[in-house]
Amino acid sequence: MSSKRLHNKVILVFGGLGLLGKTLCKAIRTVNGTPVIADVSHDAYRDWLAKEGLSDTDFPFVPADILETISVDKALRTVHETFGRLDAVLNAAYPRNKNYGVKFLDVSLADFNENVSLLLGGYFNVMQRAAKFFLDNEAGGNIVNISSIYGVIPPRFEIYKGTSMTTPVEYAAAKSALQHVSRYAAKYLKGSNIRINCVSPGGLLDNQPAPFLSAYGEHCNSKGMLTPDDVVGTILFLLSDDSAYVTGQNIVVDDGFTL
Ligand SMILES: NC(=O)c1ccc[n+]([C@@H]2O[C@H](COP(=O)([O-])OP(=O)(O)OC[C@H]3O[C@@H](n4cnc5c(N)ncnc54)[C@H](O)[C@@H]3O)[C@@H](O)[C@H]2O)c1
Repeated sequence: MSSKRLHNKVILVFGGLGLLGKTLCKAIRTVNGTPVIADVSHDAYRDWLAKEGLSDTDFPFVPADILETISVDKALRTVHETFGRLDAVLNAAYPRNKNYGVKFLDVSLADFNENVSLLLGGYFNVMQRAAKFFLDNEAGGNIVNISSIYGVIPPRFEIYKGTSMTTPVEYAAAKSALQHVSRYAAKYLKGSNIRINCVSPGGLLDNQPAPFLSAYGEHCNSKGMLTPDDVVGTILFLLSDDSAYVTGQNIVVDDGFTL
């Protein structure tokens, strides 16, 4: 990969302080891009910089809540005013409520509705506001949404045997819909030089129990669960001009898990 692949590109990363978001922001810098972290907690941002010895010049921050239209609009405007440009918006935020993560038969209707609204509504909000921003600026634009393999196939529930883990039904609903809404928006915006794509990573390593990792790995090609570093290449591709003519697509990065 060219070390200057994102030269001069300013990329606003919603959820930039998450497991995937932090790795993505660092990767954007390694290919000469400017990541701007958009996340809910300024304290978490300061803690991360301090812990990793990073500078706020290399990793600037704007406070942003993907569930608030005014907040997203302000983040888009602030980045444009500060850097004189905004090339791409990457959404890797993961809002969910306190009851999220329970098994299908235990999910209340209220929690289903709330979590789908958080997970899907937040991504709709960012997509719509970014599209409007790019249209108003008449300079084109690029939007990349992080979906999931569980928006592609139903879960392999058998891999959770012996653990308290599951794939929440709200996640399946929101992530599959995110892929379709992204295609919808890409088509709606055809002819505007704005492109929208999804990346659907497989499960990312995050201290999951060994029996689960082993059961998961049996469905994979060579590695099994991936690290955030394993999926950044595909996301950088979509953020770069190498993918200038890719729009309305979903790219699965899962070591063959969904095959
Ligand atoms: N972790 C995985 O195994 C995995 C696998 C496939 C796909 N994904 C997807 O990747 C994306 C990132 O996942 P992750 O594991 O890095 O999540 P994470 O929980 O580690 O981080 C999510 C980030 O989103 C931020 N956030 C939450 N609510 C927000 C809001 N309202 N506005 C702005 N920011 C908000 C959080 O502060 C956090 O920094 C999600 O879309 C997730 O579905 C994750």
